[in-house]
Amino acid sequence: MKKFIKKNLPPIFMLLKITNKFFRKFKIIANYLFLKYILGVKSVGKNINVSKGFKIFNGAHNIIIGNNVFLTDVLLNADDNHGTITIEDFVFFSHKVMVIARGHDYSKIDKERQEAVVEAPILIKKGAWIGSGAIILSGITIGKNAVVAAGSIVTKNVEDNTIVAGIPAKLIKNIE
Ligand SMILES: CC(C)(COP(=O)(O)OP(=O)(O)OC[C@H]1O[C@@H](n2cnc3c(N)ncnc32)[C@H](O)[C@@H]1OP(=O)(O)O)[C@@H](O)C(=O)NCCC(=O)NCCS
Repeated sequence: MKKFIKKNLPPIFMLLKITNKFFRKFKIIANYLFLKYILGVKSVGKNINVSKGFKIFNGAHNIIIGNNVFLTDVLLNADDNHGTITIEDFVFFSHKVMVIARGHDYSKIDKERQEAVVEAPILIKKGAWIGSGAIILSGITIGKNAVVAAGSIVTKNVEDNTIVAGIPAKLIKNIE
């Protein structure tokens, strides 16, 4: 028995390693096809991770996703015209983030308010990390390598290499 295990364990491990690598590659390709051809995202980069719970509510044709992005269970709500959402390379989202590039014109009421959509582009620059439960509102740019702390609501642009937190999100630190 000992001899059998000693002989067969290394090839079994090797097989598991290869299978694991294959499935990871397969998942990345499946993610690309899902985003590009099922959801209709305008541009999808390489090596995108998508988790269960990821959702595009509207405007997939106005969403651009760079390379090496972790989408997790984020909600993206873009609009049909200039309410675009651009997510650059190496951006990653923690759990339950909402990126909302549209709202409604509150100067109107009832049906008119429901139909009067106000939209503005959102840009999340390279390497930014968006913490769990954060909400990014329309017209916002999140700077390069910036961090949005968990639970923040971002109502103003975030500078490169800074950390913002709270409601509304305010600067808490610079990243050296
Ligand atoms: C942003 C974050 C990384 C900052 O961590 P840190 O550098 O250790 O920050 P500190 O603990 O030194 O906090 C600095 C100040 O910001 C405040 N702060 C930190 N995170 C905050 C948050 N999410 N909301 C509000 N205020 C926050 C602290 O209370 C502290 O305030 P004070 O100076 O008045 O005492 C961390 O707080 C965070 O939000 N991480 C996200 C975690 C997550 O989403 N993980 C998911 C798994 S990927």
